[in-house]
Amino acid sequence: MIYQTLPDFLIKNQDGVDISRWSLRGKYWLFVFSSEAAELEDPDFSKLLNKFAVQLRPSAGIAMITSSSSGVLSRLHKEHNLTFDLFSDKEMVIWKSVNKDLPDSTGECFCTVLLDPWGRIRKVFPDHSAEDFSRFIVQEMHEMVRHDLALNAEIHTRRAFRAFSSRTVERNSILRILEAGHLAPSCMNKQPWRFIVIDDSEGLKRVQESLSEGNYWMKKAPVLIAAHATKRDDCTLNDRRNYYLFGTGLAVGFMIIQATQMGMVLHPVAGYNPIELKKLLQVPEEAVMITLMALGYPGDPETLGDKHRKIETGDRIRKSLDQVVSWFS
Ligand SMILES: Cc1cc2nc3c(=O)[nH]c(=O)nc-3n(C[C@H](O)[C@H](O)[C@H](O)COP(=O)(O)O)c2cc1C
Repeated sequence: MIYQTLPDFLIKNQDGVDISRWSLRGKYWLFVFSSEAAELEDPDFSKLLNKFAVQLRPSAGIAMITSSSSGVLSRLHKEHNLTFDLFSDKEMVIWKSVNKDLPDSTGECFCTVLLDPWGRIRKVFPDHSAEDFSRFIVQEMHEMVRHDLALNAEIHTRRAFRAFSSRTVERNSILRILEAGHLAPSCMNKQPWRFIVIDDSEGLKRVQESLSEGNYWMKKAPVLIAAHATKRDDCTLNDRRNYYLFGTGLAVGFMIIQATQMGMVLHPVAGYNPIELKKLLQVPEEAVMITLMALGYPGDPETLGDKHRKIETGDRIRKSLDQVVSWFS
């Protein structure tokens, strides 16, 4: 899911402090839009927002956004003992961007927007009555925070599955997965990863010859992707820190997550003859052929040998977290 982000803006809060899109990051926000600050004169509504502002602290904030001036907002904030923020967006820049599909009217605007700590618009409620707030707006906010704190669903679902179906993978889908890898971070932005895609039957046959015996299952994958990198494309730092292998691993990790999200399996292996493979794919001798990946849609575990079928349908095996994590104090 790709979410719309807020536009750049510079507005003031009730204390005359500048508020920009960047200053709001790191916290969830409930933006309550109102064309006039008059809505605050309703003591029930103000009281309700005050109550929710306290409940949502410190991970989330509430801001009412109106076209009224910072001076008017300052007076109202004090008069009504408000514990949430009031933002003065005279040109209604934020509201217009949220409602950009609506006709450009300066008329009434009542809506509530849920924002996440990255400034992404996660949900827009076209209206907001006190009842809506009590019934589901705040509930949705809690739900969103809970969802974000949960283990990422694709990381949870991913396995190094080995059974592939014969379903073709479109080149557009392959490109999407490569794009995800290419968005990975790298030391000094060196982007050391290089990928070679093999998706035609002749090429696949030739590459399959370099596979180790145990990786027979890769012969059913409709796409293979080789990842290589050279030390030349690296930032080498003191104490033997070479990052080209690390960077390429990160990119492959991103690709695996993207493929999982798209309902596919991307399985990296080390079991192949790297020297033969480099020669075949015309990769320079000094490069490291880091991994060969099998890409495709999941298939029937019955096509696998006994050992792999058991792994395919069995539980994930992991050391306990305390065997690999320690806390320094
Ligand atoms: C660098 C690397 C090399 C691997 N090589 C092979 C391989 O040659 N053959 C294979 O069947 N699986 C290979 N795997 C998959 C691992 O066996 C698998 O990730 C591990 O058993 C954990 O299982 P899971 O990924 O399903 O949690 C490799 C994985 C990585 C990251």
